[in-house]
Amino acid sequence: MNVLEVVRETPDAIRVVLARPDSQPITFTPGMFFTVVVTIDGEEHRRAYSLASPVQQPHQVDIVIKRIADGRVSGWLNEHLRAGDTLQVLGPSGTFTLAPDAGQARHLLLVGGGSGITPLMSILQSVLLAEPDSRVVLLYGNRGVEDIIFHEALRRLVKSHAGRLVVRHVLEAPPKGWRGGRGRLDREAFGRELDVLLETTALQDITLYQCGPEPMMAGVREEMLSRGVPEARLHQERFTPAQKPVEASRYAAQHLQILAQGGQWAGTAQPGETLLEAGLAAGAPMTFSCTLGGCGRCRVRLVSGEVEMPEPNCLLPQEREANYALACIARPLGPVVLEVAPPAG
Ligand code: FES
Repeated sequence: MNVLEVVRETPDAIRVVLARPDSQPITFTPGMFFTVVVTIDGEEHRRAYSLASPVQQPHQVDIVIKRIADGRVSGWLNEHLRAGDTLQVLGPSGTFTLAPDAGQARHLLLVGGGSGITPLMSILQSVLLAEPDSRVVLLYGNRGVEDIIFHEALRRLVKSHAGRLVVRHVLEAPPKGWRGGRGRLDREAFGRELDVLLETTALQDITLYQCGPEPMMAGVREEMLSRGVPEARLHQERFTPAQKPVEASRYAAQHLQILAQGGQWAGTAQPGETLLEAGLAAGAPMTFSCTLGGCGRCRVRLVSGEVEMPEPNCLLPQEREANYALACIARPLGPVVLEVAPPAG
């Protein structure tokens, strides 16, 4: 992708405007992310960054890169990325998505923390543009006012979609005279905000999309479940784990048998190799996209054998029970027979 522009949104976060080198549109569903591949001092790193721009603007898309503490890649990108650079990306991919539909009249509740605003920004803009009868409430938690990503853009959106978009900022360290919410956006604070929302909207009409730190998401989810909101209306994006260096010595070489498209392939996973790496090396038709455990595209069913996977990842509880694994992050602990079974789409 070509980097068209790099805009500093906050002291710690940049917005990067990307376009395809052939100027073709970028096909995505709001909520998806790119896997950015960068090489720093000869070492390749992969990180997931969500698209923030609306689906109605497919020729130029935005991602946000927030510098995280000890974040080698996010820090490097914040310092070095410039307009005119080329960025290697995989995807877009992901399952935390909402496809806009002009016929829908939704009541969306979006809850974000820090850089978790990024996929929510794409969802909210896309819905407001495509669905004239839908309404959106955004609860957005940050430390201070200077940490609010898209502060000005959100203000403009509230003005231009009067009555259909409500944005409520919650700050841990608010400035004097702050009129928004105060404190950490935890279960209790979320419950208070929800009570206000329920003065004008029925609970059974609300669909939740949330993205932010794990404790925030757990609290919000518990509160919604305790009020009887069904699981199907609770959507959350887990930050995909930064890949830790793998200690290959913890693993032994393992034999693999791969069933796909009516054929069979045999291979060996070298110590520390993932099922995906070993499967590709064996010539099997493995499917994949993000390679970070975040999109589900590399899903395989374990016919036999055991694997180890870093958490969190995007595998659903029912998929775990049915013995599915994510080939891009799963390392075999013994001989494995697997069936390639990517999700639809
Ligand atoms: S390729 Fe995305 S989860 Fe494995």
